[in-house]
Amino acid sequence: MRDPSNTFKTRPLLHGGHLSGNVKVPGDKSISHRALLFGAISEGVTKIDGLLPAEDPLSTANCLRSMGVSISSIEKGQIVEVNGVGLDGFQEPEEILNCGNSGTTMRLMLGLLVGRKGRHFVLTGDESLRNRPMKRVSQPLKLMGGLINGRSNGNLAPLSVTGKSLHGAVIGTPVASAQVKSAIILAALTADGGTSVIEPARSRDHSERMLKAFGANIEVGGEMSRHIKIWPGSKLKGQSIVVPGDISSAAFWLVGGAIIPGSKITIENVGLNPTRTGIIEIMKRMGATFELINQKDIAGEPVGDIVVEHNKQLKPFNIDGEIIPRLVDEIPILTVAACFCDGVSKISGASELRIKETDRLKVITRQLAAMGAKIEEHDDGLTIYGGQKLYGCEVDSETDHRIAMSLAIASIMAESDSTMVRSNAASISYPDFWDELSRLLI
Ligand code: S3P
Repeated sequence: MRDPSNTFKTRPLLHGGHLSGNVKVPGDKSISHRALLFGAISEGVTKIDGLLPAEDPLSTANCLRSMGVSISSIEKGQIVEVNGVGLDGFQEPEEILNCGNSGTTMRLMLGLLVGRKGRHFVLTGDESLRNRPMKRVSQPLKLMGGLINGRSNGNLAPLSVTGKSLHGAVIGTPVASAQVKSAIILAALTADGGTSVIEPARSRDHSERMLKAFGANIEVGGEMSRHIKIWPGSKLKGQSIVVPGDISSAAFWLVGGAIIPGSKITIENVGLNPTRTGIIEIMKRMGATFELINQKDIAGEPVGDIVVEHNKQLKPFNIDGEIIPRLVDEIPILTVAACFCDGVSKISGASELRIKETDRLKVITRQLAAMGAKIEEHDDGLTIYGGQKLYGCEVDSETDHRIAMSLAIASIMAESDSTMVRSNAASISYPDFWDELSRLLI
């Protein structure tokens, strides 16, 4: 768990310099959570190579351990072994399951626990997570016969789950959210009868890919692959998983390399699943200078290296519609990129950002505006006026990992030095971020 005394540490951020060299980003956070969860509900051992050793996946691992799943220690560079207990094997935990800062842990866990008949579970998290909406998951799970209670009419943690027998259902989700979709899929694995989930736009598909590899009976089809069908009854078998690098962590180097004069950087082993590569499409529209090399498939996920170089004539961009779920976590760093594009960029249809670890539309606007950026905040997006100079000041991650790393890149481009309050938030998804930044910035 995060050390609160560190969380408030103020870090000096020097302006100037450029990014140079090679960087291997840590394992994909979404895939790391799923590898632990699916390993836990399988029979036999799952070996995970490249698991992200950061606070969020540790929250998932600790919840699973509290329910009798044995998981080897999670350390950088080590293969993690999960001893699966099978689909119905979780013990009733003696303690409250603490999901920390992790929305993925809480939402996917709800899907897993709701059908564990005769057992009772209580889930909570840190202050940010206790204020994030859970009804988007508890509501569809109730349609399947689930019983979930919590503050604010079942919307806010702490939440209690009373395991019930579930029945299959046809569920249209109102938001394109992989967390909601995955929770329903996990509940459907032990429901009585088949379940269909239809999303308004396609969200990341790591659950579908990985569960299929573990032996689940899942079919993806329909227009734009938005319709997922799940049939219960298949036993899941432990697998060997290789976790690719996280494109959401690579995004900071990708944008940094493109906007910081003199930069050239190679980002190795980046996951390039098409449900995650919205940022690559936007970088192309910006006219950024980059190349994808060494592309291959590893354990069911496409990966490659990205070589990016500074380009002083970046074009502004508009983002809206179906691309949003494919770059939802990259919007803070794309906002930084837009500050250095030649013209006005617009982001719309992104109201989901208001319910992430922080209200990211508000927080990125507040922090970049303090540095001198000109950004207008709308209900569902931002208008960013490129070409304004940024000046060093005291910035604040406001406890959000992606805001911390976005501001770190912005501060290099500022005219003077900055400091960052609560910089340790980065360790939620990228524990080595600050060390890597010192290494790459010359
Ligand atoms: C995630 C899905 C996304 C993303 C989050 C991780 C996942 O959330 O923002 O960081 O692992 O499923 P939503 O699916 O709620 O948009």
